[in-house]
Amino acid sequence: MRNKPILPPTNQEIEEICRIINETLGFNYGSQKKYLIESRLNKRLLKLGIDNYQTYLAHLEQDAGERYILCELLTTNVTSFFREPVQFEYLARTLLPRFSTEKKGPKKIRCWSAGSSSGEEAYSIAITCHETLGKNWDIKVLATDISVEQLKIGSTGSFPREKLKSVPAHWRAKYFRPDQDKPDHVRVIPELRRAVLFRTANLLDNKSLPPHIRLDIIFCRNVFIYLSKEARLQIVDYFNYRLHPGGYLFLGHSESIDTTSDHRWLSLGKSIYKKR
Ligand SMILES: C[S@@+](CC[C@H](N)C(=O)[O-])C[C@H]1O[C@@H](n2cnc3c(N)ncnc32)[C@H](O)[C@@H]1O
Repeated sequence: MRNKPILPPTNQEIEEICRIINETLGFNYGSQKKYLIESRLNKRLLKLGIDNYQTYLAHLEQDAGERYILCELLTTNVTSFFREPVQFEYLARTLLPRFSTEKKGPKKIRCWSAGSSSGEEAYSIAITCHETLGKNWDIKVLATDISVEQLKIGSTGSFPREKLKSVPAHWRAKYFRPDQDKPDHVRVIPELRRAVLFRTANLLDNKSLPPHIRLDIIFCRNVFIYLSKEARLQIVDYFNYRLHPGGYLFLGHSESIDTTSDHRWLSLGKSIYKKR
């Protein structure tokens, strides 16, 4: 049996969908996202056997789980290993050597990849820490996202071989093995897998993580570009609270904090900030 064609959404229905995603994630989506919304949501409506947006909105109203599926469908999850390599070079050459000399107490480092998508960023941080700090350090990277699907990919630790192009060859050989269950895939070695903890968390909800968690380094890259100014300010406050004094925050290369008005941060260049 053929599905009935889906009735295109009205402007009001698009606005309502934008309101839901903006309220849930802090985005600033508006009518300019009509094409993206339609192209990504039509498949979902088909799957649910719904042929118009009015019924879908009524479904969203009743089902909080569906609101998260909506958010997953309308976010961009593009990521890669060692994305924006200058930041990883800075981490390896400057920041971690300084951190290890200044660190008092146990040799322990806690990092957070906030908006981690499928985990390539978190594994890149863990590899850089292992390589720079050495074996006798206790290294943990927390990877959080709102997308359960992306976190699932990260927690299997299995990636298409072609995604490893941006990983230096000697680290490819050291940290990845052929995936016995999937041809053309490689899997991170157990030691690296154990260093990364995957968890769902909405950056707008500071109760999504246990209150005691404090970090030395936070990466939150290529997330702010989608957010409203208010959401960005709220999340910068949240990161300030979660970081140890002297901790570091990495943003995406086109994202920044206005340090002329927010004196809690020292800019180190390359969209990297130090909590004063
Ligand atoms: C473009 S990816 C960036 C991935 C990685 N940080 C990088 O730079 O390669 C953005 C990720 O942020 C997540 N995201 C967006 N808004 C979020 C929010 N309010 N809370 C948690 N994650 C969010 C999306 O689900 C998506 O996986």
